[in-house]
Amino acid sequence: MKKRARQSVKLKVQSKPKAGTRDAILEPLVAFNRKAVGPQKKYRVVAIPIEDPKTGQVIGGLWGEIWYRWLFVELLFIPEKMRRSDLGTRLIKLAEREARAYGCVGIWLDTFSFQAKPFYNKLGFREFGMIKGFPPGHSRHYLCKRLSGGR
Ligand SMILES: CC(C)(COP(=O)(O)OP(=O)(O)OC[C@H]1O[C@@H](n2cnc3c(N)ncnc32)[C@H](O)[C@@H]1OP(=O)(O)O)[C@@H](O)C(=O)NCCC(=O)NCCS
Repeated sequence: MKKRARQSVKLKVQSKPKAGTRDAILEPLVAFNRKAVGPQKKYRVVAIPIEDPKTGQVIGGLWGEIWYRWLFVELLFIPEKMRRSDLGTRLIKLAEREARAYGCVGIWLDTFSFQAKPFYNKLGFREFGMIKGFPPGHSRHYLCKRLSGGR
């Protein structure tokens, strides 16, 4: 591709950018992607909160989002006293049912070596990538589970 002349744009790293900065970068990027991929089903949040039976306060649960017909599970947390009683399995299965109902091709997520890789393996997730030393002394694992034959 032919190179253009250097742009006279001032660049500065910001750790606290002004409101709207992220959207101003995201929106044209989404438009760029849309040209390549075509119109897609709408972005959809998949939240399954666990509420404290006494206070109603959210104390854990699953947070994910569907885009490009894949469910990304961003967060999963079961309070310590509720662990190892199938609750995590129920949350993933519920999210999977939602993903299937919404026509998803698959589910993907990442987990650290000190978290829950064997748990996801038991639920049919397979590793497709790994970063050693993230964080130093540990590793970050990327897992997915295909739900249909979509390529
Ligand atoms: C990982 C987590 C979500 C699992 O939920 P859970 O309700 O405890 O899991 P389940 O009771 O459904 O367990 C299902 C199976 O996975 C196994 N398992 C659960 N957590 C595991 C873990 N961290 N490592 C290895 N195996 C695990 C269970 O022993 C069980 O095995 P079995 O079917 O042979 O008996 C929960 O322990 C948790 O929130 N942990 C702390 C935060 C975390 O790691 N979150 C995941 C971020 S990616």
